[in-house]
Amino acid sequence: MDNIIIRQDKYKEYEAITALHTLAFGQPAEGYLVELLRDSKAFIAELSLVAVKDGSVVGHILFSKISIRKTKDTSVEVLALSPMAVLPTLQQQGIGSLLVLEGLKRASKLPYPGVIVLGHEHYYHKFGFEPASKWGIICPYPEVEDEHWMALELKPEGLTNARGLAQYSKEFNALG
Ligand SMILES: CC(C)(COP(=O)(O)OP(=O)(O)OC[C@H]1O[C@@H](n2cnc3c(N)ncnc32)[C@H](O)[C@@H]1OP(=O)(O)O)[C@@H](O)C(=O)NCCC(=O)NCCS
Repeated sequence: MDNIIIRQDKYKEYEAITALHTLAFGQPAEGYLVELLRDSKAFIAELSLVAVKDGSVVGHILFSKISIRKTKDTSVEVLALSPMAVLPTLQQQGIGSLLVLEGLKRASKLPYPGVIVLGHEHYYHKFGFEPASKWGIICPYPEVEDEHWMALELKPEGLTNARGLAQYSKEFNALG
Protein backbone atom coordinates (compact mmCIF):
# COMPACT_ATOMS: atom_id res chain seq x y z
CA MET A 1 0.00 0.00 0.00
CA ASP A 2 1.61 3.25 -1.16
CA ASN A 3 1.68 6.56 0.67
CA ILE A 4 0.82 5.15 4.08
CA ILE A 5 2.79 6.34 7.08
CA ILE A 6 2.55 4.47 10.38
CA ARG A 7 3.50 6.54 13.42
CA GLN A 8 2.50 7.37 16.97
CA ASP A 9 -0.74 9.36 17.14
CA LYS A 10 -0.95 13.05 18.02
CA TYR A 11 -3.30 14.96 20.31
CA LYS A 12 -4.92 16.78 17.40
CA GLU A 13 -5.88 13.40 15.90
CA TYR A 14 -7.81 12.08 18.91
CA GLU A 15 -11.20 13.10 17.54
CA ALA A 16 -10.48 11.56 14.15
CA ILE A 17 -9.38 8.33 15.85
CA THR A 18 -12.62 8.06 17.82
CA ALA A 19 -14.63 8.74 14.67
CA LEU A 20 -12.64 6.15 12.73
CA HIS A 21 -13.41 3.40 15.27
CA THR A 22 -17.08 4.35 15.38
CA LEU A 23 -17.26 4.12 11.60
CA ALA A 24 -15.30 0.86 11.30
CA PHE A 25 -17.14 -0.94 14.12
CA GLY A 26 -20.53 0.62 13.37
CA GLN A 27 -20.95 1.58 17.04
CA PRO A 28 -19.35 4.05 19.49
CA ALA A 29 -18.03 1.55 22.08
CA GLU A 30 -14.53 1.01 20.66
CA GLY A 31 -13.86 4.72 20.09
CA TYR A 32 -14.98 5.37 23.64
CA LEU A 33 -12.72 2.56 24.87
CA VAL A 34 -9.73 4.25 23.20
CA GLU A 35 -10.56 7.51 24.98
CA LEU A 36 -10.85 5.75 28.35
CA LEU A 37 -7.63 3.79 27.86
CA ARG A 38 -5.72 6.95 26.96
CA ASP A 39 -6.45 8.28 30.46
CA SER A 40 -5.70 5.00 32.21
CA LYS A 41 -2.64 3.33 33.69
CA ALA A 42 -2.89 0.65 31.00
CA PHE A 43 -2.05 3.15 28.24
CA ILE A 44 1.32 3.12 26.45
CA ALA A 45 1.65 6.24 24.30
CA GLU A 46 4.28 4.71 21.98
CA LEU A 47 1.88 1.91 21.13
CA SER A 48 -1.06 4.03 20.00
CA LEU A 49 -0.32 4.12 16.28
CA VAL A 50 -2.09 5.69 13.34
CA ALA A 51 -1.96 4.97 9.64
CA VAL A 52 -1.88 8.28 7.81
CA LYS A 53 -2.66 8.77 4.12
CA ASP A 54 -2.39 12.18 2.51
CA GLY A 55 -2.34 13.78 5.96
CA SER A 56 -5.52 12.05 7.20
CA VAL A 57 -5.92 9.29 9.77
CA VAL A 58 -7.14 6.15 7.99
CA GLY A 59 -6.24 3.52 10.58
CA HIS A 60 -5.46 3.13 14.27
CA ILE A 61 -4.14 0.37 16.52
CA LEU A 62 -3.70 0.32 20.26
CA PHE A 63 -1.69 -2.01 22.47
CA SER A 64 -2.31 -1.53 26.19
CA LYS A 65 -1.25 -3.32 29.37
CA ILE A 66 -3.13 -6.39 30.51
CA SER A 67 -2.37 -8.46 33.54
CA ILE A 68 -2.26 -12.25 33.70
CA ARG A 69 -2.95 -13.43 37.19
CA LYS A 70 -0.79 -16.45 37.95
CA THR A 71 -1.58 -16.99 41.61
CA LYS A 72 -3.48 -15.04 44.25
CA ASP A 73 -0.44 -12.81 44.74
CA THR A 74 1.52 -12.92 41.49
CA SER A 75 0.79 -11.64 38.02
CA VAL A 76 2.63 -10.92 34.81
CA GLU A 77 2.03 -7.85 32.65
CA VAL A 78 1.65 -8.37 28.91
CA LEU A 79 0.08 -6.36 26.09
CA ALA A 80 -3.41 -6.55 24.64
CA LEU A 81 -3.90 -5.64 20.99
CA SER A 82 -7.26 -3.85 20.98
CA PRO A 83 -8.91 -2.12 19.39
CA MET A 84 -7.78 -1.76 15.81
CA ALA A 85 -9.64 -0.23 12.87
CA VAL A 86 -9.15 0.84 9.28
CA LEU A 87 -11.43 3.21 7.37
CA PRO A 88 -14.05 0.94 5.68
CA THR A 89 -13.34 2.36 2.23
CA LEU A 90 -9.65 1.49 2.56
CA GLN A 91 -9.91 -1.99 4.06
CA GLN A 92 -8.50 -5.11 2.36
CA GLN A 93 -5.49 -3.18 1.08
CA GLY A 94 -2.94 -4.09 3.71
CA ILE A 95 -3.22 -1.06 6.02
CA GLY A 96 -4.31 -3.20 8.97
CA SER A 97 -1.32 -5.48 8.41
CA LEU A 98 1.05 -2.50 8.35
CA LEU A 99 -0.39 -1.36 11.70
CA VAL A 100 -0.02 -4.81 13.27
CA LEU A 101 3.53 -5.32 11.98
CA GLU A 102 4.75 -1.88 13.03
CA GLY A 103 3.01 -2.25 16.40
CA LEU A 104 4.66 -5.60 17.05
CA LYS A 105 8.03 -4.22 15.99
CA ARG A 106 7.76 -1.32 18.43
CA ALA A 107 6.29 -3.53 21.17
CA SER A 108 9.20 -5.96 20.92
CA LYS A 109 11.57 -3.15 21.94
CA LEU A 110 9.64 -2.60 25.18
CA PRO A 111 9.90 -4.82 28.25
CA TYR A 112 6.76 -6.91 27.71
CA PRO A 113 6.97 -10.67 27.20
CA GLY A 114 4.04 -11.07 24.85
CA VAL A 115 0.80 -9.85 23.27
CA ILE A 116 -2.75 -11.14 23.62
CA VAL A 117 -5.46 -10.64 21.04
CA LEU A 118 -9.11 -11.58 20.83
CA GLY A 119 -10.07 -11.77 17.17
CA HIS A 120 -10.29 -13.78 13.97
CA GLU A 121 -7.67 -16.51 13.92
CA HIS A 122 -7.42 -16.32 10.12
CA TYR A 123 -6.30 -12.69 10.34
CA TYR A 124 -3.87 -12.94 13.24
CA HIS A 125 -2.18 -16.27 12.50
CA LYS A 126 -0.19 -14.69 9.70
CA PHE A 127 1.53 -12.42 12.23
CA GLY A 128 2.52 -15.42 14.35
CA PHE A 129 -0.31 -15.44 16.89
CA GLU A 130 -1.24 -18.89 18.24
CA PRO A 131 -3.99 -20.06 20.58
CA ALA A 132 -3.22 -18.59 24.01
CA SER A 133 -4.17 -21.95 25.52
CA LYS A 134 -0.72 -23.13 24.33
CA TRP A 135 0.69 -21.16 27.28
CA GLY A 136 -2.24 -21.79 29.62
CA ILE A 137 -3.45 -18.20 29.35
CA ILE A 138 -7.14 -18.20 30.20
CA CYS A 139 -9.60 -15.82 28.58
CA PRO A 140 -11.71 -13.85 31.06
CA TYR A 141 -14.76 -14.26 28.80
CA PRO A 142 -15.88 -17.91 29.05
CA GLU A 143 -18.00 -17.71 25.88
CA VAL A 144 -14.96 -16.97 23.66
CA GLU A 145 -13.85 -19.90 21.52
CA ASP A 146 -10.29 -21.12 21.95
CA GLU A 147 -9.19 -20.24 18.41
CA HIS A 148 -10.23 -16.60 18.84
CA TRP A 149 -8.11 -16.13 21.96
CA MET A 150 -4.52 -15.79 20.79
CA ALA A 151 -1.08 -14.79 21.99
CA LEU A 152 2.34 -14.06 20.57
CA GLU A 153 5.69 -14.03 22.37
CA LEU A 154 7.67 -10.80 22.05
CA LYS A 155 10.73 -12.34 23.70
CA PRO A 156 12.05 -15.90 23.38
CA GLU A 157 10.06 -18.11 25.78
CA GLY A 158 8.40 -14.88 26.94
CA LEU A 159 5.08 -16.48 27.81
CA THR A 160 6.43 -19.69 29.31
CA ASN A 161 5.67 -18.38 32.77
CA ALA A 162 2.44 -16.60 31.91
CA ARG A 163 -0.02 -19.37 32.79
CA GLY A 164 -3.08 -17.83 34.42
CA LEU A 165 -6.24 -15.80 34.01
CA ALA A 166 -5.98 -12.67 31.87
CA GLN A 167 -7.52 -9.56 33.38
CA TYR A 168 -8.29 -6.68 31.05
CA SER A 169 -8.19 -3.23 32.61
CA LYS A 170 -11.60 -2.04 33.79
CA GLU A 171 -11.89 0.35 30.83
CA PHE A 172 -12.71 -2.68 28.66
CA ASN A 173 -16.05 -2.93 30.44
CA ALA A 174 -17.05 -0.14 28.03
CA LEU A 175 -17.35 -2.84 25.36
CA GLY A 176 -20.29 -4.28 27.31
C1 LIG B 1 -9.83 -5.75 10.98
C2 LIG B 1 -9.35 -4.55 10.13
C3 LIG B 1 -8.66 -3.56 11.05
C4 LIG B 1 -8.37 -5.07 9.09
O1 LIG B 1 -7.85 -3.97 8.36
P1 LIG B 1 -7.46 -4.10 6.80
O2 LIG B 1 -6.69 -2.89 6.45
O3 LIG B 1 -8.65 -4.45 6.02
O4 LIG B 1 -6.49 -5.36 6.91
P2 LIG B 1 -5.57 -5.93 5.75
O5 LIG B 1 -5.86 -5.25 4.47
O6 LIG B 1 -4.19 -5.94 6.27
O7 LIG B 1 -6.04 -7.41 5.69
C5 LIG B 1 -7.39 -7.71 5.37
C6 LIG B 1 -7.41 -8.66 4.22
O8 LIG B 1 -6.95 -7.99 3.06
C7 LIG B 1 -5.94 -8.77 2.44
N1 LIG B 1 -4.97 -7.86 1.84
C8 LIG B 1 -3.89 -7.34 2.41
N2 LIG B 1 -3.21 -6.58 1.53
C9 LIG B 1 -3.91 -6.62 0.38
C10 LIG B 1 -3.74 -6.03 -0.89
N3 LIG B 1 -2.69 -5.23 -1.16
N4 LIG B 1 -4.68 -6.28 -1.82
C11 LIG B 1 -5.74 -7.07 -1.56
N5 LIG B 1 -5.96 -7.65 -0.37
C12 LIG B 1 -5.05 -7.43 0.59
C13 LIG B 1 -5.31 -9.54 3.56
O9 LIG B 1 -4.71 -10.74 3.09
C14 LIG B 1 -6.50 -9.83 4.42
O10 LIG B 1 -7.20 -10.94 3.94
P3 LIG B 1 -7.36 -12.18 4.83
O11 LIG B 1 -8.08 -11.72 6.08
O12 LIG B 1 -8.15 -13.08 3.97
O13 LIG B 1 -5.95 -12.64 5.11
C15 LIG B 1 -10.52 -3.86 9.40
O14 LIG B 1 -11.20 -4.83 8.63
C16 LIG B 1 -11.50 -3.17 10.34
O15 LIG B 1 -11.33 -2.02 10.69
N6 LIG B 1 -12.59 -3.89 10.71
C17 LIG B 1 -13.60 -3.34 11.58
C18 LIG B 1 -13.10 -3.25 12.99
C19 LIG B 1 -12.61 -4.58 13.51
O16 LIG B 1 -13.29 -5.59 13.40
N7 LIG B 1 -11.39 -4.59 14.13
C20 LIG B 1 -10.75 -5.81 14.59
C21 LIG B 1 -11.11 -6.18 15.95
S1 LIG B 1 -10.30 -5.16 17.18
